[in-house]
Amino acid sequence: MPRTDPGELRTARAQGHSPPPTQTELQRERADWEGMTPNKVAATEPQKPEGSGDDHSRIEHPAHPSSHALIELGCALRDSGYNFVTVTPETHRRVNANAERRGRRLAHSSQAARDVFGWSRPFEAGLLPAHWVELLTAADALEYEGDLLRSRVRFSTLDGGLYVHSAFPTAEADAVFFGPDTYRFCALVRRWMPPGGRAVDVGCGSGAAGIALASRAQAWVLADINPRALELARVNAVLNGALVELVASDVLDGVAGHIDVVIANPPYMRDESARVYRDGGGTHGQALAVRIVRDALRRLGRGGTLIVYTGAAIVGGEDTFLRELTPLLQLPNVHFAYEELDPDVFGEELERPAYADVERIAAVGLRVEVG
Ligand SMILES: C[S@@+](CC[C@H](N)C(=O)[O-])C[C@H]1O[C@@H](n2cnc3c(N)ncnc32)[C@H](O)[C@@H]1O
Repeated sequence: MPRTDPGELRTARAQGHSPPPTQTELQRERADWEGMTPNKVAATEPQKPEGSGDDHSRIEHPAHPSSHALIELGCALRDSGYNFVTVTPETHRRVNANAERRGRRLAHSSQAARDVFGWSRPFEAGLLPAHWVELLTAADALEYEGDLLRSRVRFSTLDGGLYVHSAFPTAEADAVFFGPDTYRFCALVRRWMPPGGRAVDVGCGSGAAGIALASRAQAWVLADINPRALELARVNAVLNGALVELVASDVLDGVAGHIDVVIANPPYMRDESARVYRDGGGTHGQALAVRIVRDALRRLGRGGTLIVYTGAAIVGGEDTFLRELTPLLQLPNVHFAYEELDPDVFGEELERPAYADVERIAAVGLRVEVG
């Protein structure tokens, strides 16, 4: 069966998790990519999907040529048995500082790939197979630190899948997030999401939730405002054999068609450097999450579900996010559940002036059902 578009490659895969791409498929996809004309690249601007929006063969975000190298690198890492669980930035910093204090030199070992692609440590060119370094170069994901090299991407494992995202430290404004919140978010969605329908992950980042839970929905839309996130989500969808539609969107503004389920793990901090994955706006970073609830309630019809994982600032014993949400949820056809999942996350943030009145940040889950 001849295929001409990387989107079609995924369309041909079974729903949900299918086997990762084979070498032949990768070679064919690379050939397709190289032969792509601007007309064959899907539109940058979100377009109205046909019918009810179930035309998920179209990928509404253009493929970046560097993506192929990341897919190939991901396949090589997976074949090597690579695994890495991403920790908080503060833990990451401490672990790397401990390694440096011990004077540990990176050496050829089963740990070398984890040092480079998990812990984002600088390395000597000869440490990795030469082809891996070539792939990093082709992906424009290699930088120099003096005589040493450093990967600008990290690879993390979650539920047997492999996901590429930004290297530590995630200082760039367009860094693509993946962290402990991603693991908690996916666990919450797994617990709460009803099966079937057309689901949208608002602020998909690396795309981990929609990809890890691909079989839960009939169709997944991965939406993000950050083009870099959509590029990496695209890589991750191919790498993990998931069928998705990628849409550049400010919350739900760019997502056309019927929606049954909305899930989101939005930015929830006040961030002075306004990093798009981190800065939620508002007094304590809650503004975007509140907007997602408002916009989703406008779009979801009868039987629709919204699942939000976020951080809530607790001030004087009161959950300020829940206080702001409550008026939005007082509608006769709206039922909601709200859970505190972790009473105390990112405690180090409380040292910053924006959090002077905050006693803790709680990780919370909100599920809304429209009756
Ligand atoms: C904390 S990250 C979560 C990423 C991913 N869902 C996960 O759990 O790993 C928040 C994501 O929201 C995206 N984002 C921020 N503002 C947005 C907006 N107005 N509309 C859509 N996405 C947005 C960011 O680019 C980022 O990818």
